[in-house]
Amino acid sequence: MFDVSRDQERFSSYDEGFVIWDLEEQELALHRANFMGMRPADHSAVKQVVLPAFSPKAMQVIIPEIDRLAREIVDDIAGRGACEFVFEVASKLPVYTFCELMGISEALRSRVVDLGNAMADVETRREGALDPTLELFAIAEQVSEQKRRDPDGSLMSVLVHDKSLGLSQLNINMLFIVFAVADHETTRSTAAHFMYLMSTHPDQYRLLLSDIDGHLENAIEEVLRYTSTTTNFRRTATTNTEIGSQPVKRGDKIYLSYAAANRDPSVFENPDVFDITRANARKHLAFGTGPHVCIGARLARMELQALLKQILTRIPDFRISGEPQWLRSIWFNAITQLPISFTPGRREA
Ligand code: HEM
Repeated sequence: MFDVSRDQERFSSYDEGFVIWDLEEQELALHRANFMGMRPADHSAVKQVVLPAFSPKAMQVIIPEIDRLAREIVDDIAGRGACEFVFEVASKLPVYTFCELMGISEALRSRVVDLGNAMADVETRREGALDPTLELFAIAEQVSEQKRRDPDGSLMSVLVHDKSLGLSQLNINMLFIVFAVADHETTRSTAAHFMYLMSTHPDQYRLLLSDIDGHLENAIEEVLRYTSTTTNFRRTATTNTEIGSQPVKRGDKIYLSYAAANRDPSVFENPDVFDITRANARKHLAFGTGPHVCIGARLARMELQALLKQILTRIPDFRISGEPQWLRSIWFNAITQLPISFTPGRREA
């Protein structure tokens, strides 16, 4: 995994794209315009522009806002005694955070939630169903226009005013979509997995509740390790070479399995055991590694901390009250429906 992920020259995400299925020429062109599928030099130039928005300093500014949003989301359900966790709770925070990051007005937020959900469910979208891409492009253009007139500290403002890259509107739209998708399904699923795993491992849940501040951070790392919401990406060998001692031919498709890396018995003792006190849980590769390592890892951790802290302190006796549903996917390990019930808590916001 390290050998492949860290060597973009030998193992490309540009040549044949970064998803495990093969792409038509037109799809491949779109993937190449996408941050994740760019040529190494282009990728690194765009990354320099985008990275400051995810720095520890930028995150410090956004933390109070994320806390407020998490409180607001749990406020909406806390008094009810029951809800469907995935869409009524987990999917909202990543989309609201995306809106904050991009400087999108609150008026557009609920529409972006719907489009983000439709976008995240790329593998289950039925033939003929509305493709959310065009509407997201239209929103990206509307927000770009507004930032051109009124610059602010948002990532969208940085993108439209950047002089070093000369990004076209199509490039900006594509980046907008990448961020809309990359932060959504992943963060939403990790929160849902957390709830499911705590319900199915009551000893671990009791331990967590005995010292929330002491255990929550590591518990989130263990959920990331144990579930690997993004199970794989793809690279293509650019030359005849080898991985370990395994020969690889130019053009071979390489399956990067984050799920397998996260259960590697040479790294994780008893890898199939879910243990929130695991000392090296943070060594997981759920965010990948190398030049394409998840740029939003810090943000995702903060979102999960904020949301789960609200859940654990306000509706700690939650239980699963209906059959969970899982996404049929060769890419994401995701729960798509998780009904829960709990003793109604109080509003706080
Ligand atoms: C629990 C939540 C998340 C998980 C599990 C996750 C996982 C991943 C993984 C596995 C990769 C590919 C890494 C590689 O190729 O080695 C990735 C890339 C990426 N992620 Fe995340 N991600 C999460 C949240 C986020 C968030 C919150 C954002 C942004 C707001 C984000 C933005 C991105 C972007 C832009 C890339 C592409 C990076 C590049 O190609 O340089 N992700 N993520």
